[in-house]
Parts: sequence; structure tokens; C-alpha cells
Amino acid sequence: MKIINIVGARPNFMKMAPVIEAMNQHPADIQHKLVHTGQHYDEKMSQAFFNDLGMPKPDIDLEIGSGSHAEQTARIMVAFEKVCLQEKPDLVMVVGDVNSTLACTITAKKLGIKVAHVEAGLRSRDMAMPEEINRLCTDVLCDVLFTTDRGAGENLLAEGVDSSKIVFAGNVMIDTLLKHKLMAAELVLIDELGLRPRHYSLLTLHRPSNVDDRVVLAGILEAVLELSDHLPVIFPIHPRTRKMAQQFGLLDSLQNKPDIHLLQPLGYLQFLHLMMQARMVLTDSGGLQEETTTLGVPCITLRNNTERPITCEQGSNVIVGNKKTDILAAAENVLSGQSRQGRIPEKWDGKAAQRIVQWLLDHPAIPGM
Ligand code: UD1
Repeated sequence: MKIINIVGARPNFMKMAPVIEAMNQHPADIQHKLVHTGQHYDEKMSQAFFNDLGMPKPDIDLEIGSGSHAEQTARIMVAFEKVCLQEKPDLVMVVGDVNSTLACTITAKKLGIKVAHVEAGLRSRDMAMPEEINRLCTDVLCDVLFTTDRGAGENLLAEGVDSSKIVFAGNVMIDTLLKHKLMAAELVLIDELGLRPRHYSLLTLHRPSNVDDRVVLAGILEAVLELSDHLPVIFPIHPRTRKMAQQFGLLDSLQNKPDIHLLQPLGYLQFLHLMMQARMVLTDSGGLQEETTTLGVPCITLRNNTERPITCEQGSNVIVGNKKTDILAAAENVLSGQSRQGRIPEKWDGKAAQRIVQWLLDHPAIPGM
């Protein structure tokens, strides 16, 4: 079976790494190539992850870079079509919900190539999120849908997807987390920052709905400034967020506050090191909601919805939106010991990628076309 694996943006790398590793165990049956679309291109948003995760260099780099959604998606499609025509894969594997996921799915499918989606079926029901559009359009086109939890499978069934296409494989991102936990624990970044385990919070922020509007971003950052009076905040800032905060004149107040540690985006291991020992994580990321659930670290999600409700039902996550008072109330709950540790969901056990690859080996003629 000849497979092309796709990565494009930061959250793709830790999902694809274990899939590649599992494919490498079967060289006689699976021949695979890695395509990087170049959606993320900064050293710290891309190459650092390849190094940390021990991922092979991409065989093909499309070097697409930034642009509007249409520009980025279209540029990936044009470039990836040439790759498909040349390589003639039997299957294209996509992960997650970024523009690269959707662009490569449409391109391959229109050429009659089968497509498998890892992390299928997640739904926020929020069509203002570009990722929700990417998820819906990707899933409707794919031939195999590997899901992380039973709820995702139910979402797909409710949309009319045939049950034979849905495979509950578990969470590949958690494969990567479990594999790297010990290595991350040995790092010394917390000491270097002069902080102690469980005596700081960790913040990430990058969703357009939180960072592209001045009033919204200012409200979140006011909450963060106030929180830092009680608990130091580590904030590795996404390039998009830095750009917007600077444009809105909000960066100086963060930079001038001693208990806010404003950092460049971090590599996988350093970030995991900080997350594992944080008192709480505040975030608008999707993946962090799952990682904190697995680590039992309280997570305060600065969004009005989540495509990962299992992290609230079973894990350590609460959805609080992006209003200053709500964020501070949730943080106060954690500080006063009222957070829930939760439990680790089914099949978030480090073996999801193995199950995916075993399924591919058992189904060489993928049904559904
Ligand atoms: C993308 C994904 C989002 C994911 C996030 C993780 C989509 C629609 N969005 O959002 O789901 O959670 O990645 O980071 O696919 N930039 C750089 N260097 C880079 C990459 C981006 O400076 O390497 C800046 C550019 O100004 C760019 C902006 O960040 O215009 C946004 O990048 P883009 O890839 O469009 O989306 P993200 O916000 O990163």
C-alpha cells in the first residue's frame, strides 16, 4: 500500500508522528511518504517539532506559507495535485482540522484517491470557526474515519455516514504525549524561569475569535494580568497573537508585568514540561483540552464551545468563554481547590496509531469508494 501522509500546521505534527512510527514497523506492506504543506513555516512552529518528535524530514515540502483562507487552501490544492499525479498513492492520510487537512482531502478525492482522516467526527457546532468547516467538509469526503472517542462516531452516524467507514481507534496525540512524558519531566525550564511546580499557570491563545478583535483580546489580557497577581502566568505567544496584540497596543502591559513570562512559541517537549507541572492551563486550543485531561491538570477553555466535549464530561476541562469575570471566576475555583481531576477516556492509551495501522493492514482494499 502506498500512502502519502500530510502535515501542515503545528497541531498536526504530534498527531502524525506516531502514525509514521507505526507504519515504519511494516515496511513490506506499507510504503509511505510525508508531505509538509508549509502552512506553518517558522522554525518554532514547525522544525522544532520535527526535532523533538524525532520525525523524518518531509519527503516533499510544498512551502505554501500564510495567506487568506482561500489563498492558503487553493495554493495547497494546486501544489498537492501535482504530487498526487506524480506519486499515485493508494491512500492519503490527513489529521486534525487545519486548512491543509481540507485542501489535501479535496485534491486527492477529486483524483479518485482514497482518503483517511485521523481525528474525525469532532464537532463544535460553531460554523464561525474555520476548523469546523474544515472538519465537516473533510469528513463528508473521506473513505475511512478514525475517531478519538465514541461521541465523534455518533456525530458521524447522525450525519448519515455509513458505520463501516467509522473506526474508533483512540487518540494519536495522546500516543505522543505518553511517549514523551518522562523526557519532558527531565527538562529544567521551570527552574530557569525561577518558578516552582504547581505554582504557575500556563496560557495559550491564538483563535481568531479571541485575538483578532481588540475588545475581546483586551478583556482576556486584563484577566491574565489580574491572575498574575495571584499566580505567575507563562505565556508562549503564537505569532498571530503577538502580531495582533502589538497592533492593538496591548503587548507592552504584558511585557512590563514581572509575573507574566512572555515566551516565544515553545517546542513540544518544553511545552509538555510546562503543562505537566502547571497549576492550571488557560487556553483556546483544541488539543490542549485533551492533553490536560490526560495529565489531570485543570484546564480553563477560553471559548464558548468545544468540539471535544469528552474533556468536560470525563476530564479536567471547563468551558468559560472569553469574558474577564468568567475567566477570573474559573481560575479562582482552581486556586481554591475546586477543580476536578477527571479520568482518562477510553483508548487514550498510547496505542491508537498501532490500531490505525493494523486496521489499514487488515483492509488493504479500503471500502467506501
Ligand atoms: C492554524 C489552524 C488552527 C490551529 C493553529 C495552531 C487553520 C484554519 N487554522 O491557525 O486550527 O489551531 O494553526 O497554531 O488551519 N504565522 C507565522 N508563522 C507561522 C505560521 C503562522 O508568523 O509559521 C502567522 C502569520 O501571520 C499567519 C498567522 O500566523 O498569517 C496565522 O497562521 P495560519 O496558518 O493562517 O493560522 P493559525 O492561526 O496558525
